[in-house]
Amino acid sequence: MIEVLRLSHRIRRDIRLSTHVALTSRAFKADKIYYSGQKDSSLENSIKKLNFPIEYVKSPTKLIKESKSTIIHLTMKGDDYKKIIPKLKNENLLIIVGSEKVPVGFYKLANYNISVTKFPHSEAAALAVFLENLKNLK
Ligand SMILES: C[S@@+](CC[C@H](N)C(=O)[O-])C[C@H]1O[C@@H](n2cnc3c(N)ncnc32)[C@H](O)[C@@H]1O
Repeated sequence: MIEVLRLSHRIRRDIRLSTHVALTSRAFKADKIYYSGQKDSSLENSIKKLNFPIEYVKSPTKLIKESKSTIIHLTMKGDDYKKIIPKLKNENLLIIVGSEKVPVGFYKLANYNISVTKFPHSEAAALAVFLENLKNLK
């Protein structure tokens, strides 16, 4: 089971990018997306129309702590994805992507902080590259 957690959704700023994170999750064969931040019925409805599961979580920390999956945090400050991905074969994963600055606590909660290049870019791009490489392992 591959799940994605999109942190800190902001209705006015993030509607397009959060939608793209959800569409990327679906396209690259994740099973579900969670999001935190501002609850957004417009985001939820647009994704539910595609029959892709989306769920708002008030406390992402609680979701992470209660998850039995391996916790992945995508960040440019992490270890190179090419080194880590082979260790993730057949694991259930909860993959965290940020929007605004990610609090340090999430780095500590993650089993792996993983970078897709050391340059800052987009959560949708990082997620697509990570999921595609993960898929190619299996
Ligand atoms: C626009 S970035 C946010 C950068 C933010 N200023 C910070 O300091 O965390 C949004 C998200 O994209 C993802 N991201 C951006 N660049 C990345 C990279 N090189 N590798 C992995 N993930 C990346 C991370 O999940 C990040 O939280």
